[in-house]
Amino acid sequence: MSHPIQWCRQAFPPASKWHPEDIPDLSGQIVLVTGGNSGIGFEMIKSLLRKNAKVYLAARSQQKGEEAIRALKEDTGKTAEFLQLDLNDLVAVQRSSQDFAQRESHIDILFINAGIMYPPLDQITAQKYDATFGVNVIGHHLFLRLLYPLLTSPSPLSQSQTSPSRIIWTSSSANLLVNGRLDFSTFTEGPDRRKAGTFDLYGQSKLAQIQLSAYVAKRAAEAGENVVSIAVDPGHIRSDIFRGKKPWYIILYEKFVMYPVSYGVLTPLYAGTAPEALEYNGKYIRPWARPGQPHPSAYDREQQEKLWVWLEEQVKEYL
Ligand SMILES: NC(=O)c1ccc[n+]([C@@H]2O[C@H](COP(=O)([O-])OP(=O)(O)OC[C@H]3O[C@@H](n4cnc5c(N)ncnc54)[C@H](OP(=O)(O)O)[C@@H]3O)[C@@H](O)[C@H]2O)c1
Repeated sequence: MSHPIQWCRQAFPPASKWHPEDIPDLSGQIVLVTGGNSGIGFEMIKSLLRKNAKVYLAARSQQKGEEAIRALKEDTGKTAEFLQLDLNDLVAVQRSSQDFAQRESHIDILFINAGIMYPPLDQITAQKYDATFGVNVIGHHLFLRLLYPLLTSPSPLSQSQTSPSRIIWTSSSANLLVNGRLDFSTFTEGPDRRKAGTFDLYGQSKLAQIQLSAYVAKRAAEAGENVVSIAVDPGHIRSDIFRGKKPWYIILYEKFVMYPVSYGVLTPLYAGTAPEALEYNGKYIRPWARPGQPHPSAYDREQQEKLWVWLEEQVKEYL
């Protein structure tokens, strides 16, 4: 089946057999969700709080973060913690991870969830990378690298000491739409980036996330670390991800094809909390909470390594 056809089929998944009520009790667990102030991240935090996790809501805007925390409190009776995180700026990412490390010594579940899609092509990061690749991939790479020791550190809770920490990457079926190719020359300003366009850059960022997820899983296994890493496609979800003026086809797509945000949380929450989801370490889960197949290049070790080395070079002065 061609990859675009595979993408279309992913738009209409069968009903989920798993529901957020199936999340086990998470008392004492420390969970960090990037992009927690809206959409899928916000809705995931609701379920995590209801199951008694201590949840950090990471957001770039303090005001939006605090409003979200108030809304979550009204809904669940529980209070999430705020963590300021702007993935658009590597200095801010460094600051945010230092702040977090002063507050906690361990992370049980890290949801790499924040993301942008199709921003104006003029938008670049503080360090002059393409905004989509910069936020979705480079910023998150640095954040993960700086917080990784907290994922491998023993949990202060004896009951969860044997269960691994989890890194859950909210990727997308858009990984299927870029021919399995990462073109590093498009991630910084120049004619190649302009030619690629925002649609392609988003797809590349989501393919890169699956490559990184699989690579981190392998590295952790080789090092004997108690960490699993799983990439997911949350589905085609009616959230605020389409910022700005929407073209007519997006309006129709949202109305007739997309699902409410309550569906979008199913697959990442399953990956992050279900005991049986541990078997997907290094793999990809599609909607709703079912095994999936990303583009084959996502599992190409050589490509994963090339991406990892490139990212390490970009973030080295912030490590
Ligand atoms: N919706 C879909 O159909 C769909 C499909 C596949 C994958 N996904 C993925 O799902 C994830 C969540 O998206 P969503 O649909 O829930 O959209 P959303 O409501 O727009 O959520 C995205 C979140 O990322 C945050 N964010 C953006 N730029 C940031 C930055 N520089 N630093 C820190 N946080 C930043 C946003 O914060 P602000 O509110 O401050 O902008 C927001 O909280 C994304 O990674 C997206 O690519 C979504």
